[in-house]
Amino acid sequence: MKKILITGGAGFIGSHVVRLFVNKYPDYHIVNLDKLTYAGNLENLKDVQNASNYEFVKGDIVDGDFIMSLFEEQRFDGVIHLAAESHVDRSILNPMAFVETNVLGTVNLLNAFKAHGDHENGLFYHVSTDEVYGELDDEGFFTESTPYSPNSPYSASKASSDHFVRAYHATYGTPVKISNCSNNYGSHQFPEKLIPLFINNIKHLKSLPVYGEGTNVRDWLWVEDHARAIDVIYHNGVLGETYNIGGNNEWKNIDLIHLLCKLMDQKLDRPEGDSAQLITFVKDRSGHDFRYAIDSSKLMNELDWVPSLQFEEGLSKTIDWYLQNEEWLENVTSGSYQSYYQEMYAGRS
Ligand code: NAD
Ligand code: DAU
Repeated sequence: MKKILITGGAGFIGSHVVRLFVNKYPDYHIVNLDKLTYAGNLENLKDVQNASNYEFVKGDIVDGDFIMSLFEEQRFDGVIHLAAESHVDRSILNPMAFVETNVLGTVNLLNAFKAHGDHENGLFYHVSTDEVYGELDDEGFFTESTPYSPNSPYSASKASSDHFVRAYHATYGTPVKISNCSNNYGSHQFPEKLIPLFINNIKHLKSLPVYGEGTNVRDWLWVEDHARAIDVIYHNGVLGETYNIGGNNEWKNIDLIHLLCKLMDQKLDRPEGDSAQLITFVKDRSGHDFRYAIDSSKLMNELDWVPSLQFEEGLSKTIDWYLQNEEWLENVTSGSYQSYYQEMYAGRS
């Protein structure tokens, strides 16, 4: 039985990847390693927690000794590395946490995989972001050969981790693959990111803090399509290669927000235009990248992957999930979330 470590499996994307692998591959033993930071939540995995091919380990990838002994004990065949500090705004407030988890943590995992993993026939799959490429103006797309040009402490830390993964492949022959994905949306996303934060605020009739003029553009992908891409790349991608993953689904923030407001009005039985009145333009994010757009043709042509959901349908399903999982939302927005919100947004308006 192959033993695969998934790091960050209690987070947003990680929980979808764990669910897919546990259900689709009964012959794999899946170990989910997660520190359970504010973003990690075992509630996200209730439906697989008792599966016979699933195991949870609580631990910190920054702790090199712990990681080395875990790998010595478990002898993983493969690693899918998602654990990270993932929110750009938090990286502006506290860059060091991003250096520690995203850079040091990744190097700890690479070292442990080299020492005790299946370095001959296994795989170290690193999950990364399109933000490493920097920003685009109105034209063009990121391809796998776009030069790295990160602008935020978050994207700089992810770019650095990507470089370490590539360097281990070149220097030590570590079998690696990397993917760089655009903005994900869907169920179980922590409400610090645009879509769940705005769903929660609309629900509670709180203002919707739009950064700058709302003209920045993002390419949105349904999280389960990202998980499917990871599956395809893990199994069929070429060693040492990078794959871009995107939804071919660009939205100006303000247009997306108006669509979200319209859907929320319908679902909450509020008069049309009610939620849009909550829109408030606030001080922009420092270093705010203007536009991301991904060319995923390598993944589509070589590995036969295509996004499955239209955005309006995916957004509607996402809203339904948050409205049906009130307790989840209440739990993650109580306590430290309140002080985070105050620190992040009080000085903006
Ligand atoms: P998330 O913040 O929702 O989850 C991160 C998970 O990592 C949490 O469960 C957290 O507890 C865990 N974690 C954090 N620090 C840890 C540590 N030191 N040791 C062990 N576990 C730790 O993040 P996400 O949005 O699910 O992103 C997952 C990965 O995908 C990240 O590497 C991110 O850079 C990348 N990514 C995210 C997006 C997106 O739109 N969210 C897009 C492209 C790539
Ligand atoms: O592109 C992939 C990246 O997408 C991932 O690597 C990151 O982990 C993920 O957080 C995401 O980064 P963004 O910064 O693009 O996502 P966020 O949801 O924070 O913001 C989306 C857009 O909305 C961005 O232009 C900033 C804007 N925004 C965001 C928030 C939280 C607002 O206008 N107001 C807000 O309150």
